[in-house]
Amino acid sequence: MIYPIILYGNSVLRERCKDIVPTKVDVKTLSEDMFETMHSADGIGLAAPQIGISKRMFVVDGSSLDSEEMKGFKKVFINPKIVDESGEPWEFDEGCLSIPGIRGEVKRKSEIELSYFDENWIQKKECFSGMQARVIQHEYDHIEGKLFIDYLSAIKRKLIKNKLLEISKGNCDVNYNVK
Ligand code: NI
Repeated sequence: MIYPIILYGNSVLRERCKDIVPTKVDVKTLSEDMFETMHSADGIGLAAPQIGISKRMFVVDGSSLDSEEMKGFKKVFINPKIVDESGEPWEFDEGCLSIPGIRGEVKRKSEIELSYFDENWIQKKECFSGMQARVIQHEYDHIEGKLFIDYLSAIKRKLIKNKLLEISKGNCDVNYNVK
């Protein structure tokens, strides 16, 4: 099932999401729906609040990118915890399906150690680096109620202010379902 993607301005994107209780949520179905929704919008990451579900879960799939680093990077992260963040901060031009048409340079540390559950409720602890780490950090921010635009300079934020206002009114040109 394809969900509409929640746009900037909706308060669900600003909530700190709650942990998922295993018996309460069918994470298999939810993760399939999230992949389907993300693929329909050509995204590489999607967090549950972006479909209106204030729970600590996100999916990533970098296989559509022409990138050796992202090939095979398709995962479900449930109740993730960033155990450690390290390495040299580096900048990259990020975007977000909930904030269409806006991009901005965000500085993030290059390495993370993450503990999480997969869609079979198997607990994992893994290290990620580079672009994989960045996608996870971006999605992790979503479940903390944080957006990439929060990192932008005051000047840049001023420049995008009107665009953000329009997005929050639903005025944006995208080829996927939004809400
Ligand atoms: Ni995003």
